[in-house]
Amino acid sequence: MILSIESSCDDSSIAITEIKTKKLVFHKKISQALEHSKFGGVVPELASRLHTKALPQIVEECKPFFPKLKAIAVTTEPGLLVTLIEGTAVAKALAIGLNLPLISVNHLRGHIYSLFIEKETQFPALILLVSGGHTQILEVFDWNKFNILASTLDDSLGESFDKVAKMLKLGYPGGPIIEKLAKQGEVNIPFPIPLKQSHKIEFSYSGLKNAVRLAILENRYSKEDISASFQKTAIEHLTMKLKKLFKKGYIPKNFAIVGGASANLVLREELNQLAKKYNFNLLYPELEFCSDNSAMIGRVAVEMYKNKEFINYKELKVIPRIEFKKLKL
Ligand code: KG4
Ligand code: ZN
Repeated sequence: MILSIESSCDDSSIAITEIKTKKLVFHKKISQALEHSKFGGVVPELASRLHTKALPQIVEECKPFFPKLKAIAVTTEPGLLVTLIEGTAVAKALAIGLNLPLISVNHLRGHIYSLFIEKETQFPALILLVSGGHTQILEVFDWNKFNILASTLDDSLGESFDKVAKMLKLGYPGGPIIEKLAKQGEVNIPFPIPLKQSHKIEFSYSGLKNAVRLAILENRYSKEDISASFQKTAIEHLTMKLKKLFKKGYIPKNFAIVGGASANLVLREELNQLAKKYNFNLLYPELEFCSDNSAMIGRVAVEMYKNKEFINYKELKVIPRIEFKKLKL
């Protein structure tokens, strides 16, 4: 079995995955959303301190599995520096104490493998990653073979939901709050769809965020209507760019959405429509594995364990931001 740790942002999570069967035998996540809510976003130092309490608490519950462990996996990139450090400290301590190899896992790869928890992989796949930190389209062939086809120029999709929620004083994380409020609202504000005229496959949410700010200042729309109109435009921006990508011939056999914002049911429904129109197989993670969790880190680690992708604890380092080489379309 592999014990995997995730602490790249505000979720302290540890999982144990059986290597041979990929079965998730233990999974626990302690969310810090409540603690950060009053600040309208994650406060890194606070998140770091909360991890130091939560992670050892979960490790305690994992003790019965210790004799069966073959490796320790941990998210090392990308994420918040001060929170990644907490997870890696616990991982190093366990690896040294139990004399086990360490596996260093990329968080974005984790999101991709959230699709395959307790399942076999389905590659190649075109993947839309929509989280708090990223909005990207990736062409994935295997656990270590992928191209980035498109990225955001500024904010990510999840971040735009968080910022709109903050402007409306609704708390954090904004995604689920805005989605719920939007159900009671009407789409009656014609927000401009970002980069509508551009043929480039890239994303941008900062202009839409500013348009929402101006609508709030007008003081004549309800929070429900602002939420509904914003959500509709934010999602339409995604689907419009996807259609442009498909027109360039990138119609995949498997198409997937992953990341925190892939829990959005309106987005899922829009993609269902696209799947019917373009005749592809649509994959998404179970709702509980959309946002950050250690089960997805454990699932990648199974592949890495098979490839003996181990790292010495002295070489294990955290990388808060990574710049991938972008493939131009
Ligand atoms: O993947 P995740 O847990 O963390 C990162 O890797 O960033 O994603 C968190 C993001 C937050 O910005 C949150 O507001 C967004 O996912 N999110 C949603 C929904 N649920 C979570 N965005 C839109 N609709 C949702 N239902
Ligand atoms: Zn994430």
